[in-house]
Amino acid sequence: MSVTTFKKAQAVSQSENKAQKQTQGKIVIAVDGPSASGKGTLARKMAERLGYAYLDTGALYRAVALATLELGGDPAKFKDVEPALEIVKNNLTPELLENEALRSYEVSEAASRIAALPQVRIGLLEYQRDFARNPPGDVGGAVLDGRDIGTIVCPDADVKFFVTASAEERSRRRFEELKNSRPNLTQEKVLEDIQQRDQRDSNRKAAPSIAAADACIIDTTKLTSDEVLEEVVNLVRSRFLTESDISPSEG
Ligand code: CDP
Repeated sequence: MSVTTFKKAQAVSQSENKAQKQTQGKIVIAVDGPSASGKGTLARKMAERLGYAYLDTGALYRAVALATLELGGDPAKFKDVEPALEIVKNNLTPELLENEALRSYEVSEAASRIAALPQVRIGLLEYQRDFARNPPGDVGGAVLDGRDIGTIVCPDADVKFFVTASAEERSRRRFEELKNSRPNLTQEKVLEDIQQRDQRDSNRKAAPSIAAADACIIDTTKLTSDEVLEEVVNLVRSRFLTESDISPSEG
């Protein structure tokens, strides 16, 4: 595979971007895409390789969903979600976003519902933008993954990727992740859920999940995560980094 296999929705002037970076410093990389497309793994590994900070924005929605369920609220009603949103906003730490409980099937479902509430999206926006502008630690940039990073959260991101895969392949991957913790689950049920969540994500009025016009679209249906990683890291490096920007551990 080569970078040319990435479909580009709109050409971006590399020299323009490079010049801009020389004056502004930190690089922002947006990674969007549907459920189980591989965007999270890609974004996390990309951040590791480039030595950038990483934010899984889905974990923010998941944290609000978990808190709503713990308070006995209905994830589709903002009046029930509001107290959970306040708790999460006041306690946002990296540990909170790494909580294993955020990954459960119930929380995934609830997160998809609360993410459709415009007040929740607005409530979480500033944290995400601050993270992109001032990533924690002495790093050269930030990688954020989600559904609306390239369109709403960071429309001026330096590089945007939209990672996708067929619904069948995504349900196969998600089923592999869940089958041990939920022995009664079938791949058909996971496919059905993924299709419903795609529907909700793409059709909701607030920040529907769509590729930014200037995003590189990566279809991972037939690619391994390592193949995709090499290509995107090379693309980012060739666009923005000089030899001295690359950390020694990268070789
Ligand atoms: O990839 P997966 O759907 O399993 O989960 P996620 O990326 O952790 O996102 C959890 C839920 O939050 C999704 O169902 C999305 O609807 C929502 N989300 C969003 O609306 N906007 C984001 N920037 C990130 C996640």
